[in-house]
Amino acid sequence: MAYGLDELYKHLDELREKAKLGGGTQAIEKQHERGKLTARERLELLLDPGSFVEIDEFAVHHCFDFGMEKRKCLGDGVVTGFGTINGRPVFVYAQDFTFMGGSLGERHAEKIAKILDTALKAGIPVIGLNDSGGARIQEGVASLRGYGEIFYRNVMASGVIPQIIAIMGPSAGGAVYSPALCDFIFMVKKTSYMFITGPKVVKAAIGEDVTFEQLGGAEVHAKLSGIAHFIAENDEDCINQIRALYSYLPFNNMDDPPYMDTGDPPDRVDKDLDTVVPADPKQPYNMYDVINKVVDAGTFLEVHRYYAPNAIVGFARLNGRVVGIVANQPMIYAGCLDIDSSDKIARFVRFCDCFNIPLITFVDVPGYLPGTRQEHGGVIRHGAKVIYAYSEATVPKLTVICRKAYGGAYIAMCSRHLGGDMVFAWPTAEIAVMGPEGAVEIVFKHEVMKAKTPEEAQEIINRLTADYRAKFANPYVAAERGWIDKVIKPSETRMYLCKALDVLITKREIQPRPPKKHGNIPA
Ligand code: HXC
Repeated sequence: MAYGLDELYKHLDELREKAKLGGGTQAIEKQHERGKLTARERLELLLDPGSFVEIDEFAVHHCFDFGMEKRKCLGDGVVTGFGTINGRPVFVYAQDFTFMGGSLGERHAEKIAKILDTALKAGIPVIGLNDSGGARIQEGVASLRGYGEIFYRNVMASGVIPQIIAIMGPSAGGAVYSPALCDFIFMVKKTSYMFITGPKVVKAAIGEDVTFEQLGGAEVHAKLSGIAHFIAENDEDCINQIRALYSYLPFNNMDDPPYMDTGDPPDRVDKDLDTVVPADPKQPYNMYDVINKVVDAGTFLEVHRYYAPNAIVGFARLNGRVVGIVANQPMIYAGCLDIDSSDKIARFVRFCDCFNIPLITFVDVPGYLPGTRQEHGGVIRHGAKVIYAYSEATVPKLTVICRKAYGGAYIAMCSRHLGGDMVFAWPTAEIAVMGPEGAVEIVFKHEVMKAKTPEEAQEIINRLTADYRAKFANPYVAAERGWIDKVIKPSETRMYLCKALDVLITKREIQPRPPKKHGNIPA
């Protein structure tokens, strides 16, 4: 029997309307009661108005077990497609908790895998909004296969297109590994959590009482585990933050990050910078002041704000160009590198290197944090990651040594010896094997022991420390040898970084690297 065209189009409209309802109006109400938006509402906020093109909206599962043939929903619990953010294309998927808790069945997984495949071919980033009870229990091993297919694609896409995930509900069990394989994870306070095993299993297995929030809430992962790079107050805040991050990212590893005219003059001299570093080398100062005064006004977007705050990493613009900022924070642990800050820095450096984002490193580091907790936790292998990541990186690498640059940490923080392309130092820089006090204690032990009174010993220590400081704790010993390219006043930092970036933006490696399948970064 032939249908009229009107009927055909009406049928399509009806199907589209049905698909929009996901798990139904009641489930949508429940989602709102939980303080969460639905998958479609989230995508509407994420993408430019009218830009979203949904695909696979009529996909359904083909499971016949446990009465599943009667429980179908167009789209199968995940909304997928593409659209734009500030006019720049992006592939997206959003799990729909209103249908079977956003659980991942075979078709659901195939839809996500298709997005990843298409995004990879197109060279366009993917943003996933996760809100899921994990593997769809009724579909058994088929849903495990689904996860496997997604993980594999996450790995194939890693370093080729940026992959961003927001956890906007549960993420439990093996499901956590897709986000963990991506570049950036956002979490929403109070409504999202991530863990391998939930509170009930924890209680049964080891008798520990713990809530969802304590085990794997947003704040726990932002501060303690470092799994969450960004945390948000609610869904809207999360989506605004994703949009902001997206404006710094290139589409793929063959693309440059997006230039934007910020109107901030590259030769702007900020005299306040000349007094940032206190006269007393033991006094801390706030490295955020340095970063914010040097980069284009208001452009610093911090990554991992709450994790390992003795180091600072994030994106900014310098004369309109996107750069990756890495810095020590003298306010916390005197800016020492430790296990967590090493992981944080190495991961960020590698992201920037994957995606052609030049690195600017601000150094004030007295060394690696001492103690059994650090040594037994493997600070050696974690610290090695920083050296590995900077050495491996081929993007333009500019370094500013603000004050302390001691020992192995001096080398690790993008020194010339690891391929720093232009190393600037302020007159306050102290580049040495170790701090004057520690050096004197070791090298001049015998002279100090000759003292007849404690007062005399202190006098000798003071004199030798001053001698050592005058000889080594300055930038000029390294500058003599060409390991510092230029000693600059702090107020001139922005100007010189902008000038250096102008000439280095076209940088190519001139020495071919040895052919290899891939390196073996310490883990
Ligand atoms: C099928 C699921 C489901 C799942 C939730 N639902 N999770 N259906 N498979 N994994 C369904 C519920 O039955 C319910 O259906 C609806 O989704 C909403 O769930 P509620 O429980 O009512 O919501 P809430 O109280 O908010 O609790 C959410 C939840 C809970 C904490 C996520 O549903 C839960 O604990 N689910 C199971 C989580 C889990 O153990 N997943 C497997 C993890 S192992 P109705 O019919 O009432 O609407 C895993 C392995 C992956 O994922 C391995 C990959 C390598």
